[in-house]
Formats: sequence, C-alpha cells, structure tokens
Amino acid sequence: MCKSINVGIIGMGKALPPRVLTNFDLEKIVETNDEWITTRTGIKERRIVDENSSTSDLATEAAQNALKNAGVSPAEIDLIIVATITPDYKLPSVASIVQSNIGAINAATFDLNAGCSGWVYSIATANAFIQSGFYEKILVVGAETLSTITNWQDRTTCILFGDGAGASVVAKIDEPGFFTFDLGTDGQVEPLYAPGSGSKKLVAEPIPGCTNKVFMIGKDVFKFAVKVQSKSILKLLEKLDMDINEVDLFIPHQANKRIIESACERLNITQDKFMVNLDKYGNTSAASIPLALTEAVEQGKIKKGDTVCVCGFGAGLTWASGIMKWIY
Ligand SMILES: CC(C)(COP(=O)(O)OP(=O)(O)OC[C@H]1O[C@@H](n2cnc3c(N)ncnc32)[C@H](O)[C@@H]1OP(=O)(O)O)[C@@H](O)C(=O)NCCC(=O)NCCS
Repeated sequence: MCKSINVGIIGMGKALPPRVLTNFDLEKIVETNDEWITTRTGIKERRIVDENSSTSDLATEAAQNALKNAGVSPAEIDLIIVATITPDYKLPSVASIVQSNIGAINAATFDLNAGCSGWVYSIATANAFIQSGFYEKILVVGAETLSTITNWQDRTTCILFGDGAGASVVAKIDEPGFFTFDLGTDGQVEPLYAPGSGSKKLVAEPIPGCTNKVFMIGKDVFKFAVKVQSKSILKLLEKLDMDINEVDLFIPHQANKRIIESACERLNITQDKFMVNLDKYGNTSAASIPLALTEAVEQGKIKKGDTVCVCGFGAGLTWASGIMKWIY
C-alpha cells in the first residue's frame, strides 16, 4: 500500500426518521414481547420511514450534515459512494440522486452492495481512490430503509431491523488517518438474502411472505458474526503490530448485543470499549457503523488523536474492518 498520501475522515453526519417503533408496538404486529427481544438482541426500539420517505432522503440529509461538519462544499466532492441494500430504484443509484439533491456537480457516483459491511467496504474503496492520487475528497454514505424489505409476518427478523443513514467525508489529509483494512467474503446466499428480489426466478418461498423481503437463518448468521468479528479485528492488530489496548474505541456493526458481548469475551476486553446504540435503532445494515461512529463523536466518546476500530459483517456473507486515527 502506498504510504505517501494520508487519508482520513474529516466529518461525519447522520439522519434518522422521526417515527419510533418500539418493542411494544411490535407485540401488536407479531407474536413477540419486549422481554424476548431485549434479552435476545438488546434492541428496545427502531426508527421507521413514513411512506413518503426513501433511502435517498435519509442519505441526502446525512450527507449534508457530514459536509457541514467537515466544512466542505458539495462542489469540492469528487466522488459519492452510497453503501445500501435498499436503493430507491434498481436504477439509477442512490448516489446519483444524492449528487443531484446536494448539488455535488463535480462528483462521480456509484452505490456499493456489501450488506451490513457496506460502509466499511466503501471507506476502504475511498481510501484506495485517494491514495492512488485519483481523487481528493469523497463522500461515503451508509443509508437504509430496511423497513421496506422487512417481512412483517416473520417474528424472527422483523424485530431486528430499522432505518437510518450515516455519512462521512473522506479526504486527503496531512497526518495518517486510515491505518489498514481487512475485507472479506464467504460467498453464501441462503443464510441471509431477499428471495425473488432480482433476476433469479423464485420457485418457492423459503417461508411465507418473504418474496422481495429479508429471509435469514438467524443462528447461522449469529455463528458467522461471532467468529468473523474477532478474527478480523485480530488480523488487523497483527498486521499493524498493535496491542488491542491501544484501540480507544471499537465501533461494531449494531446487529445484536449478544454478538458484541461475545466479541468482548473472545478479545478479552471490557464492554465499555465497544460503542452500542442498537437499543435505539436496531440493525440499520450499512448505516449502522457510520450512525454509531457519528454518535460516538457527538457524545465525546471519541476525541482527536484516538485510535478507532470499525468492524462490520453481513449479507454475502461479508466482513470488513478498519483501524484509523481520529483526526478531528
Ligand atoms: C435472530 C436471533 C435474535 C434469534 O435468537 P436465537 O436465540 O437464535 O433464537 P432462536 O431462533 O433459537 O429461537 C428461540 C425460540 O424463540 C422463538 N422466537 C423467535 N423469534 C421470536 C420473537 N421475536 N419473539 C418471541 N419468540 C421468538 C423461536 O420460535 C424459538 O422458539 P422454539 O424454541 O419454541 O422453537 C439470533 O439468531 C440472531 O441475532 N442472529 C443474528 C442475526 C443478525 O445479526 N443478522 C444480521 C446480520 S447483518
């Protein structure tokens, strides 16, 4: 990797729909209860878009907040990457809609689908574009309206997901920001996919009501997540010859409190080293890490000079981690 150009995040922003759906609200939709959801997942409530809002609306708002916090104008942006599995349309990309909405007249655009690892994949991509000297400022957004692909008859999945967006301005900077990344895939469809949502003809629904909606074998994804999260973090630390105690805060994908607890056990670190906000938002897929990162900054849990480790996993099955110095 070329070391001559330093790259890092210079501003973050978020967007959340105002409508709150609590566990008690879900009790009225499927056979479940607040106690089960809280104990098995740690989630208490999630945000849901109204029928007039879409992924690009959340992405636009988060992008505008990130640009403001970074002190960067839309015209300075060279590229917009939106990580999402819930685009407004099959075509065009959400990134192209955001480009128009914010007036980023000089920006190229594309969406990236790596499931819940999408935002980390996207910042690694932005890092490569900037390190190569091709671009200087890239807007990276993770935005989802998972409520639009949730099977509201399936109690094993509908309790997990929420809507939201987080955005970051990634730029060429003077000091080292991003240290390194670890991206990977264990190519598998069945544990987590949306049957009948694309060109592959659906012969029979794996469960009722899941056509074009999320279908998941929860236990398989759980096992994958637990294993891959600590493995990927340890790989990064080894690559950097860094002790785990040198990391000030971990920002894991916000899927399930028990997955985070198990990572702490495997890595032998205390839970206060892990940012958690899944109780308020549930699993927002590609938005989850940038949302948690933005809130960690807002709450003063990350300060300039801190070392931060992000780690995601999701459909694909993918994983992606990165270690960075916080530079603002
Ligand atoms: C989905 C998940 C929370 C389920 O938890 P679990 O402990 O594995 O629960 P199980 O699937 O074993 O179900 C246990 C029991 O609870 C029941 N149950 C499932 N969902 C329920 C709900 N919402 N409310 C009440 N009971 C429920 C099951 O039917 C089962 O009942 P049974 O024992 O009578 O068959 C868990 O597997 C998980 O978090 N997986 C990873 C999901 C994830 O992170 N996905 C996104 C990755 S990006």
